[in-house]
Amino acid sequence: MRVKFAPLSGFGTAAAILAFVASLSTTAQAQQDEVSIPRINRGTNQPSRPNIVFILSDDQDVHLNSLDYMPHLKQHLLDQGTFFSRHYCTIALCCPSRVNLWTGRAGHNTNVTDVSPPYGGYPKFISQGLNDKWLPVWLQQSGYNTYYTGKLFNAHSVINYNNPFPAGFNGSDFLLDPYTYQYLNATFQRNHDPPVSHTGEYSTDILAQKAYGFLDDAVTAGKPFFLGIAPIACHSNVILPLAAAELPIFTAPIPAKRHETLFPDAIVPRTESFNPDQPSGANWIKKLPIQNESNVDSNDRFYRQRLRSLQVVDEIIDKTVRRLEQYGILENTYIIYSTDNGFHIGQHRMQPGKSCGYEEDINIPLIIRGPGVPAGETTDIVTTHTDLAPTIFDIIGIPPRPEFDGIAIPLTQTVLLEAKQNRYEHVNVEYWGFAIEEGDYGTTFHYNNTYKAIRVIGKSYSLYYSIWCNNEHELYDLARDPYQMRNIFPSNHFNSTQTSKSKLLGHPLSAVISRLDTLLFVLKSCKAAECVRPWETLHPQGNVQNLRDALSPKYDYFYEVEQRRVAYTRCEPGYIIDAEGPQFPVDGLIYRDGHAWSAWV
Ligand SMILES: *[C@@H]1O[C@H](CO)[C@@H](O)[C@H](O)[C@H]1NC(C)=O
Ligand SMILES: *[C@@H]1O[C@H](CO)[C@@H](O)[C@H](O)[C@H]1NC(C)=O
Ligand SMILES: *[C@@H]1O[C@H](CO)[C@@H](O)[C@H](O)[C@H]1NC(C)=O
Ligand SMILES: *[C@@H]1O[C@H](CO)[C@@H](O)[C@H](O)[C@H]1NC(C)=O
Ligand SMILES: *[C@@H]1O[C@H](CO)[C@@H](O)[C@H](O)[C@H]1NC(C)=O
Ligand SMILES: *[C@@H]1O[C@H](CO)[C@@H](O)[C@H](O)[C@H]1NC(C)=O
Repeated sequence: MRVKFAPLSGFGTAAAILAFVASLSTTAQAQQDEVSIPRINRGTNQPSRPNIVFILSDDQDVHLNSLDYMPHLKQHLLDQGTFFSRHYCTIALCCPSRVNLWTGRAGHNTNVTDVSPPYGGYPKFISQGLNDKWLPVWLQQSGYNTYYTGKLFNAHSVINYNNPFPAGFNGSDFLLDPYTYQYLNATFQRNHDPPVSHTGEYSTDILAQKAYGFLDDAVTAGKPFFLGIAPIACHSNVILPLAAAELPIFTAPIPAKRHETLFPDAIVPRTESFNPDQPSGANWIKKLPIQNESNVDSNDRFYRQRLRSLQVVDEIIDKTVRRLEQYGILENTYIIYSTDNGFHIGQHRMQPGKSCGYEEDINIPLIIRGPGVPAGETTDIVTTHTDLAPTIFDIIGIPPRPEFDGIAIPLTQTVLLEAKQNRYEHVNVEYWGFAIEEGDYGTTFHYNNTYKAIRVIGKSYSLYYSIWCNNEHELYDLARDPYQMRNIFPSNHFNSTQTSKSKLLGHPLSAVISRLDTLLFVLKSCKAAECVRPWETLHPQGNVQNLRDALSPKYDYFYEVEQRRVAYTRCEPGYIIDAEGPQFPVDGLIYRDGHAWSAWV
């Protein structure tokens, strides 16, 4: 029987009382099961395993303050859960990032690195064999019912949606290309039914109804569930070309009618990196002209449209939480809120977009509330999208898969405190292909936007190091230069044996660079545990756990002389191994994937 769900205001009194009683008895799980409506996990007398609701927005920033404009997100998630202020995506582009998220594997291990074939998109996800190696399938195998609505991957389209269907869902209703990003002309495709066009309706409002419907289905089915809610806000509105020769048109997101005049005075935060007088960054970014006033005005408008488009997402948060509460299952449900990648508008003179390694693009929202998760807290432990599949495994109490490249995010006060002492401190950032400029003044594709980077955040340091496919390097000391305006990588670094006298972290700059480079060397092709504990690959005795340890002068020879350097032989739009320079440092004692691998003894 399908539980009929009345509108919130008119919710039946008896049910409301039961839900209220249930909320009083959160410590007595058995009792809660008795009064919850409907009962979860009817088959056993064990406390039911928790439900998971994952809300995934699109292209949402933290650095441009979008979270400040979402009051329900504050009320239900920030105030009731933990904000992970150092959460990162590892590849700042929708499809590769989503594949990373739902498989728990780095982009270089999924080899889904782009939004469309041959290097990415839904067809590449399928051809890589990932359709039976991803979260919804694993969740079903462990007894969860799974539901999902919204955008899954790019190039998941009205043509290929059934070839094959995405595996692992009990209920699904996907947005399909080429209409995924048309706020007023979406096409949804439910379960195994044909696609349905919704011309003139508002995409995120339709999606909200589908999400609530799935929630009702999940509760009716009576087993623990996973529900994914993936609206397109606050992505640009995009008209995708039907002919290959045409270019897509990325314009500001379109809000729902009722939100279109909100925040009339909001503008992009005018930080040091916003449209600076001097060029900054590297590669194509360093060549960008300063933006004139009409360009800046247009981008401020674009910014407001993003905030407005997010209002429906904020409503979804509110209504989902209320429904969970009325069903009496809020206390046994984890709500995870995140996005696929971040966004920049005007920083380093860039037009609106993503795909770069700067903080705006990679440091993204993550908020989790649920049983035992500290309420109203912020933690600065480093976490990445690669960790979220392992985190969900941890939540539902099943052992992590051996191929996971990440590790569960701690969710209780005790383990969060432990993690502050011993969690890893790096983010492995990677990218292949082009960057697209969005908005009225965005006209260009920047090819050769291929790079590898690491973000390293320790107790007393905060660094970003990157190598582009043209072998340009960037190094920022974010402790002193939070907006990444001063690249301190010396231009003569590889030419002089006695490099500059500059110091960083109390050590010669060259000593720091050699450690960062070697760390990146390990991470750029790491697999599984090595991605989490890369220093142990270099120091198998376990006596080096972080950059600070590795900076000991006794390792200077190992890092500065023995190691090969990360380098590209050319730029490629995908993960073509022989364009990516040496794969393994000097021969040594340890074996890694059957290759001789360097060692410190
Ligand atoms: C959900 O799908 C799984 C796998 O096909 C199945 O075992 C389970 O019974 C389904 N749940 C419902 C409610 O249909
Ligand atoms: C809206 O979508 C339908 C198909 O779903 C398509 O035929 C029509 O051309 C679209 N309209 C616009 C303005 O893109
Ligand atoms: C501002 O810059 C854009 C893009 O470079 C240019 O097309 C436009 O003419 C400029 N507007 C003014 C008022 O200078
Ligand atoms: C190193 O110096 C040589 C000679 O001065 C110059 O030709 C070359 O471009 C330099 N290489 C780098 C990587 O700066
Ligand atoms: C990209 O880099 C390759 C060399 O790696 C070069 O041949 C090509 O011209 C570059 N393309 C663009 C658009 O800059
Ligand atoms: C990644 O996929 C591309 C496109 O299919 C392929 O050319 C490339 O060899 C793959 N890279 C690796 C490392 O398998």
